Amino acid sequence: MYQPSESSPTSASVDLTALAQNVAHVRRLAPRADVLAVVKANAYGHGAIEISHALQKLAVRRFGVATVDEGIALRQAGIQDTILVMGATVPAQFTELVAHRLTPVLYRTDLIPTFAAHARTAPTPYPVHIKVETGMGRLGVSPHELLELLSRSELRGPLRLEGLMTHLADADNRDAGQTEEQLARFQQVLNQVQIRGLAIPLIHVANSAGIIKYPTSLHSLVRPGIMLYGYHTLSKDTQTPELQPILTWKTTIAHVHTISPGGSVSYNRTFIASRQTRVAVLPVGYADGYNRLLSNRGQVLIGGRRVPVIGRVCMDMTMVDITDVPGVQVGEEAILIGQQSSERITASDLAAWQQTIPYEILCAIGSRVPRRYLPLDSPAGAASQSS
Ligand SMILES: Cc1ncc(COP(=O)(O)O)c(C=O)c1O
Repeated sequence: MYQPSESSPTSASVDLTALAQNVAHVRRLAPRADVLAVVKANAYGHGAIEISHALQKLAVRRFGVATVDEGIALRQAGIQDTILVMGATVPAQFTELVAHRLTPVLYRTDLIPTFAAHARTAPTPYPVHIKVETGMGRLGVSPHELLELLSRSELRGPLRLEGLMTHLADADNRDAGQTEEQLARFQQVLNQVQIRGLAIPLIHVANSAGIIKYPTSLHSLVRPGIMLYGYHTLSKDTQTPELQPILTWKTTIAHVHTISPGGSVSYNRTFIASRQTRVAVLPVGYADGYNRLLSNRGQVLIGGRRVPVIGRVCMDMTMVDITDVPGVQVGEEAILIGQQSSERITASDLAAWQQTIPYEILCAIGSRVPRRYLPLDSPAGAASQSS
């Protein structure tokens, strides 16, 4: 696998102590629920293996991934705890899924007998979760289908119904209408389950926004993702915990030069200098996840000040205007996400400039960018590297 080197001028550091603080917020808000940490998409770009190992030290024993391959990667890294595959799986993956003791989310009626046929080889009834569609318009059996499913013999034989879940579509919206409807629909399902006298150990609904805003979405398990990494997308008037972004993304100035009025920067000359302009060249580009939409729009921190991106972001390089920051030298640090002096740029800022959400910004940080880890409860600085 591709391994970026430790000496790379562009890197991301992940503060595992800040991760611990974010986990503490989850536990404070959902004190009676067990935690399934959502570490899909390489833990939203932070490094699934390192994040999962750190979470294990924080007594998290359940992990959520999107794909079978993500689950296998965690198993191969020695994670023995429950790994729930929450995304779309196909029967061709079931043999491998069982071989690695991953727990599937079954989201279509026909997947029950198909998966049961694969799980027969397991020595004990194989745990599965079923997803009910309550308004996300994505994966899941209908409430009606679920009630039929509950009487199927497979769930008393090769399979064991360990979990019942649904997913909220709109919990970060100021308007609670859709979420309340989804919660009411799911509650009706739970009532029917209860009437049938079925005990399902893990009932789960809440993503980060649910955990923060909807106490009625908290059942025996919660599924936080983005809040573990220090972000949320709830509106400003919502009461939210003091989450700490755990990732800092930085680079090092590779070159400084001055252009005269009328001179241009980067492809297609989208920036033309109107004054004598000092330009710093940063060795980071869209191939690293620094999106081209940040061309002439983004900002970075240099010398404790915000400076603007000028010209088009290239595949491997980005230029910024440092005219107003005196004395900037080659080799100085530039912060793409993080804090410098009293200034801070977050993934939410980049998301606003690109008209997207912080999730996408974090997930997009590329494999060329080495991730370094500030260990749990250690002073910043003693970083260990991994990719
Ligand atoms: C099924 C499921 N549960 C939980 C989460 C975590 O969501 P969030 O990152 O908003 O907390 C996700 C992420 O998209 C998901 O797909």
